[in-house]
Amino acid sequence: MGSLHVLEHPLIQHKLALLRDQNTGVKEFRELVGEIAQLMCYEATRDLPTEEVEIVTPVAKTIVRMLAGKKLAIVPILRAGLGMVDAIIDLIPSAKVGHIGLYRDPQTHLPVEYYCKMPPDISERQIFIVDPMLATGGSASAAISLMKEKYGCNHIVLMNLIAAPEGIAVIRRDHPNVDLFVAAVDERLNEHAYIVPGLGDAGDRIFGTK
Ligand code: PRP
Ligand code: URA
Repeated sequence: MGSLHVLEHPLIQHKLALLRDQNTGVKEFRELVGEIAQLMCYEATRDLPTEEVEIVTPVAKTIVRMLAGKKLAIVPILRAGLGMVDAIIDLIPSAKVGHIGLYRDPQTHLPVEYYCKMPPDISERQIFIVDPMLATGGSASAAISLMKEKYGCNHIVLMNLIAAPEGIAVIRRDHPNVDLFVAAVDERLNEHAYIVPGLGDAGDRIFGTK
């Protein structure tokens, strides 16, 4: 059974406050998305298995702990998820990256798939799906279904910066075995299915398209 983790670390909350501000410009917004993603990744990888390995330091032989078990893959949901990738790769340089292109239909708010490219050994990897926003939950749920059904992935974690209660409920209903890490649970969705108070359109703010 997966669980919901709300990451209330003061550094994450401070950076999230700056991110939400409408006066935060593109450069700072991008930097903050990366910094928050990195801090969240630190928490979301807390339970990764390790194994004992013998190494030799300049002084003596010793037993140390290194990552073991499944290799990792980061799967951003395009576009906005891209803003989280580089900072996570800085922490986990051996992770591979798969891309899922989804956009929300402006009328129905349902996700439309337009791109998908995965590493060949993706089914053997622990997957971290990343996207700054979990609004209706449609995009994230579709991305998880795709990873399970088309690629046979069983070990999936979802990381979002800001989530609406509605989106969390959809992920819990559709994918109860997925662990969900968020930095904030906001009040609700508005009539355009935007998160309130949220931060506006994450993709537009990362890429400066509005
Ligand atoms: C945003 C966001 C999520 C999705 C969340 O992407 O980055 O992918 O909306 O909404 P949902 O939970 O209701 O599905 P958008 O469709 O705006 O595309 P973009 O990243 O290309 O801007
Ligand atoms: N996508 C965004 O970028 N922001 C929202 O509030 C909802 C969906």
